[in-house]
Amino acid sequence: HAPLRVAVLGAGTVGADVLRVIRTSADALTHRIGAPLEVTGIAVTDLARDRGEHVDRRLLTDDPALAIRDADIVVELMGGIEPARTLLLEAMAHGASVVTANKALLAKDGVALYEAADANGVDLHFEAAVAGAIPLVRPIRESLAGDHIQKVLGIVNGTTNYVLDAMTRTGASFDDALATAKELGYAEADPTADIEGHDAAAKAAILASLAFHTRVSLSDVHCEGITTVTPEDIAAAGRMGRVIKLLSIVERVEEEGTERVSARVYPAMLPDSHPLASVSEAYNAVFVEADAAGSLMFYGQGAGGAPTASAVLGDLVTVARQRVHGGFGPRESRYADLGIIPLDGL
Ligand code: NDP
Ligand code: HSE
Repeated sequence: HAPLRVAVLGAGTVGADVLRVIRTSADALTHRIGAPLEVTGIAVTDLARDRGEHVDRRLLTDDPALAIRDADIVVELMGGIEPARTLLLEAMAHGASVVTANKALLAKDGVALYEAADANGVDLHFEAAVAGAIPLVRPIRESLAGDHIQKVLGIVNGTTNYVLDAMTRTGASFDDALATAKELGYAEADPTADIEGHDAAAKAAILASLAFHTRVSLSDVHCEGITTVTPEDIAAAGRMGRVIKLLSIVERVEEEGTERVSARVYPAMLPDSHPLASVSEAYNAVFVEADAAGSLMFYGQGAGGAPTASAVLGDLVTVARQRVHGGFGPRESRYADLGIIPLDGL
């Protein structure tokens, strides 16, 4: 099969790690997909910045519209609403499949993107948009598509969890903990989105839309961040055997005989014994409650370049396989002969 042309919009925290894996795992990805990936353009704003050995400088452009031209797949990791929205709509109109981690865009204008994907018969995948490395979007969108989800509840913002955890466990100041979260690549380009709860609210909107097969956007989510949480609040919670966590909760509620959706983000006090109380650093954890499945828990790294790149790469393999083989769903195009350790060798 001919190489698949991939445009990568953004080579920052996530984009640089995605490009690293595409390069260092090229053979394995080719085998899994059934065709090689060829990165044909990388859009950035600063052409002069050093991005390490895995970002091919010859492919850099500060014109993302040029980068997406003729691409089979567009991987959007630049963030923000515009120009990302226009670029993705344009890419899909030209028949490209899209992978994005842009929760802000999906929560604001997801419907326009879903409709464009349908209208143009292309894939739109966004596993990385919610909870970093944790497979959560796909389980809700696919594995639980036959069940009836009642509630999704958990910690979906790594930065605020990192800050609250550092303030609780080491007594770090809010500002110092946030500065470290930024250094570690957890925070958004503008960390206000994290600390004011907007990032968690965007994820709540995406989760509610998928879980309840409805349209929920950012403005539908009640949102309180962590900027009002003081060290005194944290200490007082500690004396009561509790910790403060930023929770995102979306659920079906019955109001006067009518089913509605409630979506909210707020700092909550949890008993030390609660499973979410021990979620540390930038980890995320999410419970999904469904009629037939019962309660499911998802846990893992919720932010950072490499964990997020893992989710992006999974989507990239999925859309690339779709373009090579048609149809949907995972498949193995070739098996590697790894050899089996004999039983007596264990
Ligand atoms: P960064 O700010 O580190 O990187 C953004 C990249 O996009 C940079 O390379 C920047 O160029 C480029 N860029 C921004 N605007 C433009 C533009 N108009 N034209 C061309 N290039 C542009 O962000 P992250 O990598 O952290 O995040 C990327 C996306 O992934 C966001 O949507 C974010 O919400 C999402 N995400 C991030 C996670 C994380 O843990 N960091 C986790 C999950 C999702 P330059 O380098 O020149 O500035
Ligand atoms: N800023 C986000 C967070 C990145 O801290 O969770 C992952 O979506």
